[in-house]
Amino acid sequence: MGERRILLIVGGGIAAYKSLELVRLLAAENVRTRAILTAAGAQFVTPLSLGALTQDKVYRDLFDLTDEAEMGHIELSRQADLVVVAPATADLMARAANGLANDLATTALLATDKPVMMAPAMNVRMWEHAATQRNLAQLKADGVTFVGPDDGAMACGEFGPGRMAEPAAIRDAVMAFYAHRGVGAGVAATGARPLQGRRILVTAGPTIEPIDPVRFLSNRSSGKQGFAIAAELAKLGADVRLVAGPVGLDNPSGVTVTRVETAAQMLGACQAALPADAAVCVAAVADWRPAAVAATKLKKTKTGLPAITLAENPDILATLSAPGPNRPRLVVGFAAETDDVEAHARAKLARKGCDWIVANDVSGDVMGGDANEVAIVTAAGVERWPRAPKGAVAARLAHAIAAALA
Ligand code: CTP
Repeated sequence: MGERRILLIVGGGIAAYKSLELVRLLAAENVRTRAILTAAGAQFVTPLSLGALTQDKVYRDLFDLTDEAEMGHIELSRQADLVVVAPATADLMARAANGLANDLATTALLATDKPVMMAPAMNVRMWEHAATQRNLAQLKADGVTFVGPDDGAMACGEFGPGRMAEPAAIRDAVMAFYAHRGVGAGVAATGARPLQGRRILVTAGPTIEPIDPVRFLSNRSSGKQGFAIAAELAKLGADVRLVAGPVGLDNPSGVTVTRVETAAQMLGACQAALPADAAVCVAAVADWRPAAVAATKLKKTKTGLPAITLAENPDILATLSAPGPNRPRLVVGFAAETDDVEAHARAKLARKGCDWIVANDVSGDVMGGDANEVAIVTAAGVERWPRAPKGAVAARLAHAIAAALA
C-alpha cells in the first residue's frame, strides 16, 4: 500500500483542540495529515501547533499566491485519499451543503474528487435546527459520511447531541475507510457502508423473569449501550436485528427490533434471526428464572414467606458461540465486572466460546449512565479504550467489527 494521506479541514469550534489529538492518533497508524485551518478554526488552535503535529505547512488562505504557486487549491484537495472535516461547524456544513466556495476549506470541498467525512460539532439547538438537519440530509445525499456527533455535556453548558465525536472514533472511521477502500463501488468504496450486505444480531437490555402475573426478577440494564451499538452498525450499512428486553428506548432508525421479556424468548428470537455474520450480545440476561410461574398473584399468608425456587436460564452468548453451521463468524460478548475486570473477561472468553469480550468496569456509574470505559479482550490480547460516551464506544466497536468482517 502506498502512503496514506488525508486532508483535514479544521473548522472553528471549541472541539478544534481535539483535532490535534486526531492528527497524533492518525500518525500512529501511519496516516499522514495535511491540514487546512479556517479563519474561525484559527481562533481555537494555532497554525503553529497544527503544523508541528502534521509536520507540514498549514494551509489557510485562498488567495495566497505563494501557496497557489507551491500547490494549487485543486491539487491540495485531490492529493489526499480522504477529506476529513473536524470539527464540522454548522456554518461549514451549511456552506458545503450549498456548494459555496468562499474560502479555502469550502473551495477544497467543492473541488475534491475524494470522499468526504465530517465530524460535526455545535450547540445542541444548532444541531437540531431544521436548517442544519436539512444541510445534513443534503450532504448525506451528496455522499458525505458522518462520525458523531455524540450526546453529552457541551462547552456552552447545554446537554444533548452536538459534541464532536472523540478523536479515537474519528480515527477508527478513517481506518475503516482504509480497510474497505476498493471494496465495491460508489458509496461503499468511500467506507461509508462497509457493513452493507452483512446481517448482525444484537441483544440488549435486561430480561425479566416472571414470578407471578405482577412480579418479576430483573436487573438494572438500561439497554443504552446495546441500542447505540445497533444504531452504529446500521449506520455502517448492516442489516441489524436487535433483540431487546424491556427498556424505554425508541427503535434505532434502520434497525429491525424484536421486543422480548424473558431469556427464553430472547434466545428464541436470536435463533430466528440467524444466520448472521456477527452477533453482539450486550443484553444483561437474567441468569436465573423462577422455576415455576404462579398462575395467580402470590398472596401474603400467615403460614410464612413464599419460597421461590430458581432455574438456570439458557446462556444465549454461549449458545450462539457453539460450533455449528449457523455460528456467526464473529461473536462478541460483554462482561460487566466490578473487580479484576480483564482476568474475569479472559476467563469468560474461554468459557463462552466467543471471539471477543468487551469488558467493562461497572463498579462506578456505568449501569444506566451515559459513559463507558471498556477493554476489548481477544485471544490475541487486550486493547484498552479510554472512557467515552456510550455512543462513541458503540461507533468504535462498530468500526472494529466492520474491519474484522472485511
Ligand atoms: N449472556 C447471555 N445469556 C446469559 C447470560 C449472559 O447471552 N444467560 C451474555 C451477555 O449478554 C454478555 C455475556 O454473556 O455478553 C456476559 O454475561 P455475564 O452475565 O456478565 O456473565 P456470566 O456468565 O453471568 O458470568 P458471571 O456470573 O461470572 O458474571
